[in-house]
Amino acid sequence: MARERVVSGMRPTGKLHLGHYHGALENWVRLQDDFECFYFVADWHALTTDFEDTSGIIPSTREMVIDWLSVGLDPDRCAIFRQSDVMEHAELYLLLSMVTPIGWLERNPTYKEQREEIVGKDLSGLGFLGYPVLQAADIVMYDAARVPIGVDQLPHLELTREIVRRFNHLYGDMLREPQQLLSEAPKLLGIDNRKMSKSYGNAILLSDLPEEVDRKVAQMITDPARKRRTDPGNPDVCNVFAYHALYKTPAVLAAHPHLLPMAEVDRQCRSATLGCVEDKKQLARQINHFLDTTVRPRRARLEKDPARVDEILKAGAEKARAIAVRTMARVREAMRLV
Ligand code: TRP
Repeated sequence: MARERVVSGMRPTGKLHLGHYHGALENWVRLQDDFECFYFVADWHALTTDFEDTSGIIPSTREMVIDWLSVGLDPDRCAIFRQSDVMEHAELYLLLSMVTPIGWLERNPTYKEQREEIVGKDLSGLGFLGYPVLQAADIVMYDAARVPIGVDQLPHLELTREIVRRFNHLYGDMLREPQQLLSEAPKLLGIDNRKMSKSYGNAILLSDLPEEVDRKVAQMITDPARKRRTDPGNPDVCNVFAYHALYKTPAVLAAHPHLLPMAEVDRQCRSATLGCVEDKKQLARQINHFLDTTVRPRRARLEKDPARVDEILKAGAEKARAIAVRTMARVREAMRLV
């Protein structure tokens, strides 16, 4: 039986951090086992907010795709491509825009929020308003059953379903209404306890060297009430403790008997047996272990073969286009354009 399809995209933001991994990529990698996956760089979506300076798109695409591959997205098992390499997305966007009332787009909470919050960028254009229509095209192009996204993207997926229903009502049942696959991971905080973001400079990057990880983890904020080494700590308010949970998986603990299990970290922190400095050293070691086993070997191989990323994107676009061409033929027929 044919596997169901999963589609997801990310705007090209350059080097990715641990938050991207635990919030999205870890899930993307797992989904490759059970679904036919289409993962793409949403470079046209990047234009909706950054059309005035496009210089970052190509380098950021490359950095991001290297990170995708480094964490284990496998071009033999999924299609990895750039949205702009599959022109059909633009055609479907245009056709879907005909059946999308502007009111739906103006009421989109993400649109309203970003128009208020993002300063210094011109968001008055049609492209930015139409963002969710392009996203709908990305998704329905591949008949996606599931779309792995964060909660912030739910309004967009709801709009996709509304557009699909309108389209199907007008032209016959042919586009599929996708369902979300929400990632349960809580948002990771950066080393300064603000939301992890490259622009805040508080992120641990997947491409960080071991020394950089050590240095960043050493700067992390622990329980602010624990001033001296002899003060008892409260792991419930400690960002470092929250991180431990991500890395102390049963498999890792079994392989590294010297690592303290969570319950033991909890106990030793509360009783001031374990100090924050030592605790952070352990965390840095765990993160580096994860990067050493999961990310760095693949990155090293890619760095030796600079043409590889372009080859992968080209092959991915071909795989995606093969489906997109068929979808567009059906759509044009349904709309009686042929
Ligand atoms: N809007 C998404 C984001 O900002 C990126 C995206 C574009 C996407 N097209 C998509 C995600 C299709 C899922 C499916 O994260």
